[in-house]
Amino acid sequence: MAFVSTTVHAESFRLFYSHDGMGELEPCGCRANPMGGVIRLKNALKKQATTSPSIYVDTGNSYFESREVAGSLREPIRIQSEKLAEAHRELGLKLYVPGDKDFALGLDHFKKLVKISKITPLSLNLEERDEKTKSHFFQQEFVTKSGDTSYRFVGLHGTDLILPEELVVKNPTEALKKYLDDKPLQTNEKLIVLSELTLEKDRTLAEMFTKISLIIGSRDQAFTQTPITVGSTLIVQTSYRNQYLGIVNFSDESAPVAELMGLDESLESSPDKKLVQIIANWKKSTRKFSSISTPAAQNSSKQFQTFPSCVSCHDGIFKFWMGTPHSQALTPLLAKDQFSQPQCLTCHTLKPDRGALVLENGKKLGWTEHASFMKDLAQFTRTGTPAPKPQLEQVKQAWGAVQCENCHGPAGNHPFEGQMKKIVPETTCLKCHTEERAPSWYEGKRLKPGIVDLKKKLIQCPAG
Ligand code: HEC
Ligand code: HEC
Ligand code: HEC
Ligand code: HEC
Repeated sequence: MAFVSTTVHAESFRLFYSHDGMGELEPCGCRANPMGGVIRLKNALKKQATTSPSIYVDTGNSYFESREVAGSLREPIRIQSEKLAEAHRELGLKLYVPGDKDFALGLDHFKKLVKISKITPLSLNLEERDEKTKSHFFQQEFVTKSGDTSYRFVGLHGTDLILPEELVVKNPTEALKKYLDDKPLQTNEKLIVLSELTLEKDRTLAEMFTKISLIIGSRDQAFTQTPITVGSTLIVQTSYRNQYLGIVNFSDESAPVAELMGLDESLESSPDKKLVQIIANWKKSTRKFSSISTPAAQNSSKQFQTFPSCVSCHDGIFKFWMGTPHSQALTPLLAKDQFSQPQCLTCHTLKPDRGALVLENGKKLGWTEHASFMKDLAQFTRTGTPAPKPQLEQVKQAWGAVQCENCHGPAGNHPFEGQMKKIVPETTCLKCHTEERAPSWYEGKRLKPGIVDLKKKLIQCPAG
């Protein structure tokens, strides 16, 4: 897909946009050609810089992956969001229209992110509920000039957003109408709406307010590979997780032109030093969380045993499993030190919060040692040499890789009590093989017919 056109136009103002970044600082390696990451984003912004004035805006849901963050993840996710805010400052991000996910750790935390990143939070219809302390935290508009033209930015929020207690959303169309009645648009002014309404409502908005030049959407991930035009209004959305940088070029003579630039490997060379430092600091400060043991995790009713306990009775199955990619699922995380990201471990381990390798003598080893142990073990089960270090008999519990109990459920007291699940339902596979992480299983957003049965044949345990 080549999105960037090479046509030269007499542009007078260039706008960069992103949204739905989902907290990502670095591209996840799950996709075949992983795109995204703040380092590539910085290089893209540099490459696309022109002599005419420009601005970089984000239409929200970029700080967190979900609206709620589970207890043990709160601390590492908080650190990640603050590092991302530092990155935003380095990227020169100017305007931000938050989505509901941005309040995952509360309004006060979002205010802290605004302080760190120096972004301007924008909304015409989002307010703090408390009349007395209402601080007008959200700016009503932002205006910038290029030549004789003024660009007026406003933010609009949907009434269906699930927001923190302290915030209230007013009707967006009424808010925009009042804003334009109070301050009518002049001929040398262009109105740009940064919208949290979702695509269908953006269309309706464009029909109602024909003078809007551009609407940048968010939230419903309606990746507009070709921009939508309603009358003389352009509506755009780029993809999630910073896979593409959105660009809109304005010129005085003609309608704005939208482009998308893929953030691929070609943008990796000469990484920005400050961003490299921010990412290194982030990993350093979250590393300790990848092996913490939390009370919540220990309370699960049925206990896990982990695979070393299964080997004595299911030796044939163990050897088969050692030959599948699941037993090596820690390896891809090694390359980029992505063990420090708890959210990656969720699908690449059995239980990330229980530690990595626990030895019979009580000693604990980390994820890096665990990954190389799995490699050695695979080699050993294939050829009989050399003996892996530590030896399998010395390992009491191994929490890494996609293993028996990921698919068959916690063993509890098996084989002495209870019954293990023999059949693994499709839904178990799809918890990890999501559209986003295993795109080759899908056609667009839909699962390819028969794909799970086909894939099952590759990994299902033999009788024994
Ligand atoms: C002491 C020997 C022993 C150990 C250790 C053991 N199993 Fe089993 N397992 C059995 C036997 C015997 C059966 C078949 C009888 C049954 O259905 O319970 C079985 C059956 C199973 C089944 C299929 C259930 C069925 O209905 O056929 C699964 C899945 C399973 N085991 C997984 C595991 C896992 C995972 C572990 C390690 C956590 C493990 N087993 C450890 C002996 C063992
Ligand atoms: C929702 C589950 C899930 C999460 C969360 C997840 N992954 Fe994955 N990952 C997968 C699956 C499934 C595959 C196999 C995809 C395939 O080959 O179709 C995979 C494959 C990969 C691969 C490629 C492996 C190879 O052999 O080519 C890398 C690298 C990777 N993941 C890194 C990460 C990182 C880094 C993160 C955190 C940012 C992460 N994953 C989070 C499920 C997940
Ligand atoms: C990625 C998922 C996955 C992993 C990991 C996995 N299994 Fe299985 N296992 C399956 C599937 C699929 C089947 C076949 C049943 C079915 O079609 O659902 C199966 C079947 C079995 C059976 C029944 C075999 C028979 O036909 O009598 C046993 C026992 C078993 N697995 C044990 C294990 C043990 C022990 C491990 C770890 C060493 C393990 N499994 C790892 C998916 C998995
Ligand atoms: C706990 C998460 C998890 C579960 C559950 C899981 N997988 Fe996987 N699977 C992964 C990861 C991670 C990889 C990539 C491992 C690597 O390449 O290092 C993977 C790789 C694979 C691959 C090789 C890549 C591909 O797409 O061809 C197959 C096949 C596969 N899984 C099939 C299955 C099937 C079938 C099930 C259900 C019976 C299943 N998986 C359940 C996480 C999971």
